[in-house]
Amino acid sequence: MSSQNAIGVFDSGLGGLSAVKEFMNLLPNEKIVYFGDTGRVPYGTRSRDTIRKYAFQDANFLLTHDVKMIVAACGTVSSVAGSALEQKLSVPYTGVVNPTAYTAVRKTKNGKIGVIGTAATVGSHSYKLRLQKLDPSVEVFEQACPLFVSLVENGIIHRDDQITRLVVRRYMAELKEQEVDTVILGCTHFPLLREAISDYMGEDVALVDSGFETASYAAKVLGEKNLLSDDDTPKTPEFFVSDTPDGFESVAGLFLGRDMVHSVTQIDIEQY
Ligand code: DGL
Repeated sequence: MSSQNAIGVFDSGLGGLSAVKEFMNLLPNEKIVYFGDTGRVPYGTRSRDTIRKYAFQDANFLLTHDVKMIVAACGTVSSVAGSALEQKLSVPYTGVVNPTAYTAVRKTKNGKIGVIGTAATVGSHSYKLRLQKLDPSVEVFEQACPLFVSLVENGIIHRDDQITRLVVRRYMAELKEQEVDTVILGCTHFPLLREAISDYMGEDVALVDSGFETASYAAKVLGEKNLLSDDDTPKTPEFFVSDTPDGFESVAGLFLGRDMVHSVTQIDIEQY
């Protein structure tokens, strides 16, 4: 395994690009190969078996690019297929659950943590189990927020938008009532709603972004394994999707927080 190989990042769709944004900030000299399963998104409403099958196909595709590490930048995949991927993959793996939970238990002061994610993520209790393993005294309050994914995909994310504010209030009211002081944004789409969520919860509530924590953790793992690239030229990610790449640029710009020249290729994920 060479340190010059790329880091493979995948998600059920384009939400994982919010994690790629953090990788590009933290590790600009690392080559990223990203796969977004745009032809089969969403995963969050699917069964365990289907999510696992898809997750292994996605990882197998990235392995064909000789990646040195695989990152599931997807709350749903990390929650439902994370342990299986970790056991079976031939390269280092991380999902978003463990690094994010690790930071959340360190951030909370009153021991009350909220977790928001897709129905599959919340149904798996992945974050709750991990948080309580790290600190059995924390209280965890979980809330599935499926409409958040649709809001983000339709660009209805502005903190002053009435629809955004209404949906945020509907989902977050219970967590606010429980007086959580830390909320895990357990889905790759949710960082785009950070401002609206923070406006509702109040600025004293810490919002933990799974993309940022995962990129930091991946950097640590690669460092420990002497797999960080020593080539100091900034790299541009290479993108692959399973549906038409039409419209990729505008959505990618939203998640990446910047406009850039994209190389995006459509592949047939059912082959892997
Ligand atoms: N990427 C998914 C996640 O982070 C959200 C979209 C989906 O349901 O596939 O959980």
